[in-house]
Amino acid sequence: MSVSEKGSRLPGFYNLSLEERLQRLAAAGDLSPQDLDALSGRAGLSLEQADHMIENVVGLHALPLGVALNFVVNGREVLVPMAVEEPSVVAGASFMAKLARAGGGFQAHTTPPEMIAQIQVLDVADLPSARLAILEEKERLLAEAAEIDPVLKRLGGGPRDLEVRVIEASPIGPFLVLHLIYDVRDAMGANAVNTAAERLANLVESITGGRVHLRILSNLADRRLARARCTIPLSELAFDDFTAEEVRDGIIAAWAFAAADPYRAATHNKGIMNGVDAVVIATGNDWRAIEAGAHAYAARSGVYTSLSTWGRDRQGNLVGTLEMPLAVGIVGGATRVHPTAQAALKLMGVKTARELAEVIVSVGLAQNLAALRALATEGIQRGHMSLHARQVAIAAGATGDQIERLAQRLVAEKTVRIDRAEEILKEWKAQSA
Ligand code: MEV
Repeated sequence: MSVSEKGSRLPGFYNLSLEERLQRLAAAGDLSPQDLDALSGRAGLSLEQADHMIENVVGLHALPLGVALNFVVNGREVLVPMAVEEPSVVAGASFMAKLARAGGGFQAHTTPPEMIAQIQVLDVADLPSARLAILEEKERLLAEAAEIDPVLKRLGGGPRDLEVRVIEASPIGPFLVLHLIYDVRDAMGANAVNTAAERLANLVESITGGRVHLRILSNLADRRLARARCTIPLSELAFDDFTAEEVRDGIIAAWAFAAADPYRAATHNKGIMNGVDAVVIATGNDWRAIEAGAHAYAARSGVYTSLSTWGRDRQGNLVGTLEMPLAVGIVGGATRVHPTAQAALKLMGVKTARELAEVIVSVGLAQNLAALRALATEGIQRGHMSLHARQVAIAAGATGDQIERLAQRLVAEKTVRIDRAEEILKEWKAQSA
């Protein structure tokens, strides 16, 4: 039975032991014992595999892997693996997904998986005529690019378009730039587009009479966008002493701050990336590429701004949207080699790169909501502190049941510091001696 039939709610998951959680996942999804071993870290990436991935390998670097619950994306229940070191991220995403599911969950869609390869052409005698020469030969160039990757061609991918830009002002003066638009299907696509750009270089030189310099993809993948929106029913927003209207309007005012001010927008978008990166990392994708694309897209108007929007619908419900480039793949690279990434994709039940991007953009929106809701009401520290306190307790040497007990005491004392944690542990030791 698949996850979609069983749902992503998993009530009480938080309180289960590590082993029980894995058993719950096994029951909720189509996961084999090997998948569970990969997710649990008992049998994730091996040193041998790592040694083939990068240079000078000496070991592995681990991160906590959590599962965000309650997500419904395009009507499909999905359990979301998140690799992240920061407390509150997984809990925040799960809680906001629960609020969103009361409004039908997340509606997400993506544009086709088209990447941009840039080819820089220097030493062109006459830029306008070189530009037209390229455009006249566009079909020939596209036909040449189409032959480069027969596998991608068979899968329906390949070159889609060619654009020519003249960069008028640069530190070395004007030059020409070609954009090869390339559909990479279910791959992230860096290798495919870089290869294509390199292979077109000779032809571009003969057409323009110039000298091809750089041939590389652009991480501003603005042809490969993912969009998500959600509606949070007003009735879901009230908590503690805060009315639903206060929470809604507080969230909208918090967003307005990010929309108008780059200093705030950077932090606001960082909150979005807390969710986005965690899934990107869990699935073995290139989070630096995603980060670069996100922030460049946020600055596309010339002023850095929020990637998301928050407002209200006619009924007064809170509505949110997020739009960003998401160049993620489910084939090739680390996604294929890393056993935990494979198990993570299986857990989500995604079958295409576009579906993966649709889940990721939804998580980004949920994460953004979690941050804004906290910031607009009780502040971020209260929720953070209890989770942070657990890390401090562990760092101070607490084990087993002591961790939770010590964390609670630190929060109650409002002193979440390692020196105080060590002091309390010493007291407990003295008492039990
Ligand atoms: C912390 O990792 C993320 C936040 O700063 C995001 C935000 O301010 O919106 C809480």
